[in-house]
Amino acid sequence: MKRILFVDDEPNVLEGLQRMLYPLQNEWKMAFASSGSRALETLEQSRFDVVVSDMRMPGMDGAQLLAEVKKRYPDILRFVLSGQSATDLVYRAVGDAHQFLSKPCKPKLLKECVDKAFALRELLASDSLKAVVARIRSLPPVPHVYAKLCEALKSSEYSIADVGRVIEMDLAMTAKILQVANSAFFGLRRQVATATQAASLLGLNTINALVLTTGLFAPIEGSKLPRGFSINALWEHSMIVGWYARSVCLAENTSSELAGDAYTAGLLHDTGKLVLASAYTEEYAHVYDHSVVNAIPLHDAEKQVLGCTHAEVGAYLLGIWGLPHAIIESVAYHHRPADSVGTSFAPLTAVHAADVLAFGLQKEPADYPAPAMDMAYLGRLGLEGRAVAWEGACANIDVRGGG
Ligand SMILES: [Fe+2]
Ligand SMILES: [Fe+2]
Repeated sequence: MKRILFVDDEPNVLEGLQRMLYPLQNEWKMAFASSGSRALETLEQSRFDVVVSDMRMPGMDGAQLLAEVKKRYPDILRFVLSGQSATDLVYRAVGDAHQFLSKPCKPKLLKECVDKAFALRELLASDSLKAVVARIRSLPPVPHVYAKLCEALKSSEYSIADVGRVIEMDLAMTAKILQVANSAFFGLRRQVATATQAASLLGLNTINALVLTTGLFAPIEGSKLPRGFSINALWEHSMIVGWYARSVCLAENTSSELAGDAYTAGLLHDTGKLVLASAYTEEYAHVYDHSVVNAIPLHDAEKQVLGCTHAEVGAYLLGIWGLPHAIIESVAYHHRPADSVGTSFAPLTAVHAADVLAFGLQKEPADYPAPAMDMAYLGRLGLEGRAVAWEGACANIDVRGGG
């Protein structure tokens, strides 16, 4: 039985939740707290798997509560159920919560989100994955600039100029972001000369995603990598998948937050390849050969040779970094979306489609078999008829141009 604690300062909301979630009482053991400090007391008394908190509460607010929960009980899954005000949305980019839900939230959606979070946690707790990760001497740390950026965004009075200043402290990062911002990827008509301009033209979501990706790729550039492994090709593939994932979302008319998550997830979806290739240089060369000789997809070869895939390793790392759940889920299941428990369009759907389309549309050279769209998964979502439209949306984008 899953144990879930709901926190909200409004008695009506708590009562409403209690009534609405009554049908789930055989699956969930639920408790309700009317303030952040009460919630912490309840957590001291018994064990919980999930905390679902309101954002704006007098005294300790939702952000402070979840940061405290993260510190004291890192295993507890943290959800925000908020009214989606502008400040809540900024907080969303900062990330002490796994998942953001907006009020009112239907029991079916809440249950699906909780189920997804549990399934992902189980996947990332597998012994073979832990064994592979444990052998890596040091996992890449959260990019320094990203951590600083999150700090800056936490202040309610931050400005775009502050964001620019944080990025400009790192010269290599600034150079890379300007290069990307000026590439054809973004189709901006004016030349971007400073990080502040880039931030105001591209928006916070995109800047956050670029900072993460650049921070991850940069330290590995120049280090010893397996033969046949091209960091430039992976960078380009990541940019294209991010861009395509966003286009698929636009074709589906999703919210801009969902499209932003899909973009970030697209940029980061093959993060695990970087981690594995730099930590297991010899073995990874063998993984490549194994996939070519047996004509099996690379992720299957990884599973057979190493015991886990780059999708799992990437998701594991992003989990440690505290990225939102939808992004981690997209990375974890991008080759096999049907393994997820989702039943509606999500960033995962966009990233899976984008990854497949990138191989097809960009004619990416690969010695191993190209991935195929998982039609059974799309069927489950009732979206099997949309694949053609997505391909059309992505085919229209000119992604060449030196990003
Ligand atoms: Fe992949
Ligand atoms: Fe990929």
